Amino acid sequence: MKIVDGVYWVGVADWGLRHFHGFELSTHKGSSYNSYLIKDEKIALIDTVWEPFAEEFLSKLQRVVDLESIDYVIANHGEVDHSGALPALMEKIPEATLVVSPRGEESLRYHYHQDWNFQVVKTGDRISLGRKELVFIEAPMLHWPDSMFTYLTEDNILMSNDAFGMHYASSGLFDDLVDMEEVLREAVKYYANILTPFSRQVVKKIEELKKMEVPVDIIAPSHGIIWRKDPGKIIDLYYRWGRGESQERIIIAYDTMWEATARMAYAIEEGIHEEGIDCRLLPLAVTDRNDVVAEVFQARGLLLGSPTFNRSILPTVAPFLEEVKGLRFQNKLGAAFGSYGWSGEAVSILEKNLKEAGIEVLQEGINVKFQPNQEDLEKCRTFAREFAAEMKKRT
Ligand SMILES: Cc1cc2nc3c(=O)[nH]c(=O)nc-3n(C[C@H](O)[C@H](O)[C@H](O)COP(=O)(O)O)c2cc1C
Ligand SMILES: [Fe+2]
Ligand SMILES: [Fe+2]
Repeated sequence: MKIVDGVYWVGVADWGLRHFHGFELSTHKGSSYNSYLIKDEKIALIDTVWEPFAEEFLSKLQRVVDLESIDYVIANHGEVDHSGALPALMEKIPEATLVVSPRGEESLRYHYHQDWNFQVVKTGDRISLGRKELVFIEAPMLHWPDSMFTYLTEDNILMSNDAFGMHYASSGLFDDLVDMEEVLREAVKYYANILTPFSRQVVKKIEELKKMEVPVDIIAPSHGIIWRKDPGKIIDLYYRWGRGESQERIIIAYDTMWEATARMAYAIEEGIHEEGIDCRLLPLAVTDRNDVVAEVFQARGLLLGSPTFNRSILPTVAPFLEEVKGLRFQNKLGAAFGSYGWSGEAVSILEKNLKEAGIEVLQEGINVKFQPNQEDLEKCRTFAREFAAEMKKRT
C-alpha cells in the first residue's frame, strides 16, 4: 500500500489478535505490525513483523521489491512483534546493513544470537538514500531502552515505532479512512496500559521534537493507523497524557461475593451524582482489566471496593492493584470501601496499595459489617459527597 511516492506500507494486519504480550493485554480490535519500505536510489526497510507472520510478510514484500536490492534494514525496536521476521529476512539478505540504536544492537543480539551486519546509529545520525535521507532519533523507554524513531526527509514522515500507535487492525490504514472514535479509544488504552510508566520520557521526547523544529507531515507508527490528516492530534494527546491530565470523573471499581460491597458502591455512586460529577461503576470480576486501566487512567478519582476475604482482599481485585502499582499514574485521588464479617482487613489493605501506587488517599475508607443498613448506606453517600467535593476543590 502506497503512503507517498516511493514509500510503502508492507506490514501485516492481525485481525484475529485478542491478546498481546502473552495474555497481559487485551486487543479487542486486533492489531497490525507496520513495516515500511522506502525506494530511493537506495532501498530501506523500516521494521518487520511478528514471527508467525514472517512468511506472509516476505511474500508480500517480494511483490513490491526484489529482496536482494534492499540496502538497509532499520530495526527501531528489538521487541519480537517488530523484529520477529528478521531472522527469515536476514537469511535471504545477509549482506544488508541492519541499522540499530546502541541498545538495539544489544537487544537483537540477545534475542536472536546472530552476527548480522549491524550499523549502530545515535540521535541525529543520517543515512542518505539518494534524494531522501533517514534521520535517527533515539527514544529510550518508548517502549524499551532500545527504541528509536526514524524520520524520512522530503516526505517528512516520522516512523515512531510503538509511540503514537494503537492495537487496531484496519483496512483503511489512514486516519482519514477509519472510524476515529474507535481508534482514539484504542490509542488511549494503549497509552494507559503500555506507556504510562514512561510518561516523563514521553513529555521530554515531544519537547525535544518541538525544539528540533522538524516538520512532521505524517506519523507512521508500528501498530494501527497512520496519521496523515492530523498528525498533530496524537502528539497533542500524548503530551497531555504524559503530563497526567485527566477528566473530572470518578471510577468506582469493586468486586463483591454477596452484594454487600456492591450495595455500598451503588450508594457511593448516588453521592457522587449528587455532587454533579461524572462517575462510572466497574465491577472488576467481569470487566476486562485493561479496559479498567484505561478508564482509571482517564479519570481523576478512583474509589476502590473489596470485601474482606480470608483476611485479605478478593483475588479479583489484586491483579488490578498490581497493574496500577506498576503503571504509576499521576495526579490521581483515591479512597477505599468494603464490607467485612469479623476481622475486616480489606479496606486498610486497599488503602496501603493505593498509596503504593502513588494515588493520594483523600479520606479514611469506609467499612461496613456484613450487609449495609440504611444508616450505612447514608454513610456511603456522605463519604462519596465528601470525596467529590474535595476533588472539585483540587481542580
Ligand atoms: C470465603 C469467605 C472468606 C471470608 N473471609 C473473611 C475474613 O477473613 N475476614 C472477615 O472479616 N470477613 C471475611 N468474610 C466475610 C465477608 O467479608 C462478608 O461476608 C462480607 O459482607 C462480604 O461482602 P460482599 O457481599 O461484598 O462479598 C469472608 C467471607 C467469605 C464468603
Ligand atoms: Fe514494544
Ligand atoms: Fe510493538
